[in-house]
Amino acid sequence: MALLEVKDIAKRFDDNEVLNGVSIEVNKGDVVSILGPSGSGKTTLLRCINFLERADSGRLFFEGKEYDLSKIKKSDIAAIRMKTGFVFQNYNLFANKTVLQNVTLGLTSARKMQRKEAEKKAMDVLLKVGMDSYKDYYPSQLSGGQQQRVAIARALATDPSILYFDEPTSALDPQLTAEVLEVMRSLAKEGMTMIVVTHEMGFAKEVSSHVVFMADGNIVEEGPAKEFFAAPTQQRTREFLRLTEN
Ligand SMILES: Nc1ncnc2c1ncn2[C@@H]1O[C@H](COP(=O)(O)OP(=O)(O)O)[C@@H](O)[C@H]1O
Ligand SMILES: [Mg+2]
Repeated sequence: MALLEVKDIAKRFDDNEVLNGVSIEVNKGDVVSILGPSGSGKTTLLRCINFLERADSGRLFFEGKEYDLSKIKKSDIAAIRMKTGFVFQNYNLFANKTVLQNVTLGLTSARKMQRKEAEKKAMDVLLKVGMDSYKDYYPSQLSGGQQQRVAIARALATDPSILYFDEPTSALDPQLTAEVLEVMRSLAKEGMTMIVVTHEMGFAKEVSSHVVFMADGNIVEEGPAKEFFAAPTQQRTREFLRLTEN
């Protein structure tokens, strides 16, 4: 059974139909890349799956349980969020907290972990993203790439079953992009399950197991990464891939 399955998710903002019945399936260990032009609904999809936005309709299957996305209970949302991690485009670190505090906060508050234990866990994940020596820095003292690596550490600290990334490198220059992608690549190698909205075609091609291409709130085409890039079947996909070639 899939770790996570979204069926027929729909979402509109006023008259704007942003998701028109999107379905995706993610198995344990999958890295699913979501591609598509700006405005196609990728962020909204991720936000609905993690309840940062309420879907109008659709079902979610997560770790063997089924939920109605339009009327899911707060307690179910809280329970699912305990097992998921979200990495935002702009890092979303607390500016007035150190690197270490940014990572321990979710452990000591929502999870009631003791401070000592939380700090040990935080140092483990900071080491993993190569940021352990920056534990006492504030976000403003770090590069964008370093901040994003801290944000990834924060998401990892709770041992999530799945990580969601929304264009994690789009605010970064090529060198910083490379260091963040390297961290994500190593997570993939370790078998971390991830959904990654990205414009990094190289990453999508090399690291993902599955690619979903969206346009106008629909999935235009999807498939195993190798097949998707080697032989896209839809005209719209071919145009998109041609435009994103450097
Ligand atoms: N909170 C919101 N209120 C109104 N419209 C929104 C909101 N969020 C997104 N949209 C609209 O939904 C569409 C899809 O946006 P988004 O999911 O951000 O696409 P993408 O991430 O693929 O660029 C866009 O037309 C955008 O303007
Ligand atoms: Mg977006």
